[in-house]
Amino acid sequence: MGASVDWRRRNSRASKPVTFMYYVGSGLGLALGSVSAAQADNKALGQFLASECTTCHQLSGESTGGIPPITGWPKNQFIAVLRSYRAKERDNELMQTIAGRLSDDEIAALAAFFEDQGKK
Ligand code: HEC
Repeated sequence: MGASVDWRRRNSRASKPVTFMYYVGSGLGLALGSVSAAQADNKALGQFLASECTTCHQLSGESTGGIPPITGWPKNQFIAVLRSYRAKERDNELMQTIAGRLSDDEIAALAAFFEDQGKK
């Protein structure tokens, strides 16, 4: 009984748009899901890379021994500063060396992570 109902539904004219909507809907769901997963990955990578930075820079946002705080900065500003160290436009040999090892993706991930730190 159930099987024959299924057969008729699958072969009715109405089934095509329904199937179409289903695929569009699930495709959209997948696309949105992967965007937020990518953002989460980005911060996780940022946190991983940040362990090097936080041997000097404080996660609490305090400055210690001449090392400036780098938490809570707007992402774009953080990215611009690290890129200028990497390009050796900003003068500090230590930060030039550290930034010189970072890719654009890694700098963006660090920016995303540090932007969130030190907020209450
Ligand atoms: C060995 C210690 C040390 C480490 C490790 C380190 N930094 Fe720095 N960082 C400094 C010092 C010192 C300065 C100040 C340099 C200057 O006077 O220009 C600085 C400056 C900065 C600035 C600019 C701050 C400002 O107010 O202008 C940013 C952004 C920054 N570091 C990010 C990072 C990131 C991201 C990492 C990890 C990938 C990192 N630093 C690792 C010591 C360190």
